[in-house]
Amino acid sequence: MTKEYTYQTGFGSYWQSEALPGALPQGQNSPQKPPFGLYAEQLSGSAFTRARHLNYRSWLYRILPSVVHSPFQAIAHEGITLETQNAPRPTQMRWHAMASPHKPTDFIDGLKTLLFNGAPSQHQGAAIHLYAANTDMGNRYFYSADGEWLIVPYEGDCELSTEFGKLTLSVGEIAVIPRGVRFQVNLLSPTIKGYICENFGSPLTLPDLGPIGSNGLANPKDFLIPHAAYEEKQGDYVLLGKFNHQLWQAYLNYSPLNVVAWHGNYAPYKYNLSHFNTINTVSYDHCDPSIFTVLTSQSAYPGVANIDFVIFPERWMVAEHTFRPPYYHRNVMSEFMGLIQGHYDAKADGFVPGGGSLHNMMSGHGPDKETTLQAINAKLIPQKQTNTLAFMLESCLPWATTAFAFDPNLLQSNYHDCWQEIPILFNANER
Ligand SMILES: [Fe+2]
Repeated sequence: MTKEYTYQTGFGSYWQSEALPGALPQGQNSPQKPPFGLYAEQLSGSAFTRARHLNYRSWLYRILPSVVHSPFQAIAHEGITLETQNAPRPTQMRWHAMASPHKPTDFIDGLKTLLFNGAPSQHQGAAIHLYAANTDMGNRYFYSADGEWLIVPYEGDCELSTEFGKLTLSVGEIAVIPRGVRFQVNLLSPTIKGYICENFGSPLTLPDLGPIGSNGLANPKDFLIPHAAYEEKQGDYVLLGKFNHQLWQAYLNYSPLNVVAWHGNYAPYKYNLSHFNTINTVSYDHCDPSIFTVLTSQSAYPGVANIDFVIFPERWMVAEHTFRPPYYHRNVMSEFMGLIQGHYDAKADGFVPGGGSLHNMMSGHGPDKETTLQAINAKLIPQKQTNTLAFMLESCLPWATTAFAFDPNLLQSNYHDCWQEIPILFNANER
C-alpha cells in the first residue's frame, strides 16, 4: 500500500482530515475567509433536525463550491432506465453472471439495473445494479442523489476517488459512497465486476447487538475512511448525476474532487468482510440469518429493515441433530442473494459468483434436491464451510424486475427444476 491509501478508522465517528496542513478552520465551521482561500460547504446526509445518532453531515473546504457547473441535461442510459419496469412477482428467479464488456466501458456505462423497490423521492427502498467495466472514468465524475451506493465487487480491484479522498476496493471488501458524494472509479485490474445496492432509505448503519453485547458481527474499528485528497486541475470535465432513476449531465471546468479538508460524520468508507465476527449455533438448529447482518438501513418501523446487507462467510458448522443447510423458508421480507466467491451451501450448482437469486415476499425457497438429500444423510461432525462468501440484500419491500432481469443470457429459466424432484419421504407408519 502506498501512503495515499492510509485510512482513518471507526464507524459513526466524527472524523477530520486535511490534505494541506492548516486547511481546517479552527473554532467555527464557516469563517469569513477559510484558510488558503478555500470555500466552506456543508453536505447534509439527513434532515437538519434528525435525532443526534441519525444526524449526518460533513463540512467540506474546497477550491470551488460544488454549484460551479453548467445546467443539468437529462441523458439516456439504457442500463438504468426503468421505462420497461415490471411489477414485483412471486416467481423465484435466478441469474447467471453478466458477461465482461467487449468494447471500452467505464463504471457508469457498465451499469445495469436488475431489481428495485420503493422510490428515491420517497426515501425508501433500493435498487440492485450490476457493474462491469474495463476502462477508467477519465474526465467523468458521478454522484447519486437517489441513494447511497454499497459496492460489492466479485472481480478485480479498483480505486474510488471521492470528494473525501481515495479508497481502494478489492474482492472481499465492500465500500459505501454516501448519497450525493461525487466520485470516480478507476481500474487497478483489467476488468472489474460487482454488485451495487443503491439504498434510497436511511443510511446504512451497524445493527444493534442486543444480548450479543458490545462486540461482534462487524466491529466499528474495522471500518476505513479516507484521508482528504484533492485534485488541483482545470480542464473539461463531465459531472453525471443520478436523480430520480434518470441520468443527468453537466459540465465543469475544474475537477469536482477539489476538497482540501473536511470534518464530519458523513463520509465514504470501506470494510473487509474477512473481519466479520461470525456467530452461529454451538448446540442445535439455526439462528435466523439476521445474525449475519453487516449493515442495516432501518425503515420507519422499529426492527424492520428497508435493507439489510447480510453475509454468509466461511464458518464452522457444528450443530448437532440438525438439518444444517439454510432451512426451507417463506419470509415477509424479500431476499436477493449474490455470491462473491466460491460456492453457496444451499445449492449444489447454478448459483455462481456474479449471479443472483430472488425470493420475493412469501415465496418458498431453500436448498435444492441434491443438497437436501446429502444433508439428511450427512454425518454431523464439526465441519468448516470453506471457499464461500455469499450475501443477501433483504428488504421489507418486494423487489420489482427490470427488462434486463429477463435477458435470456442471464435468466435461468429452469431454476425451479432444482426443487421439483425433492422426494416424498413421508411414511405414516414409521416415525
Ligand atoms: Fe430466506
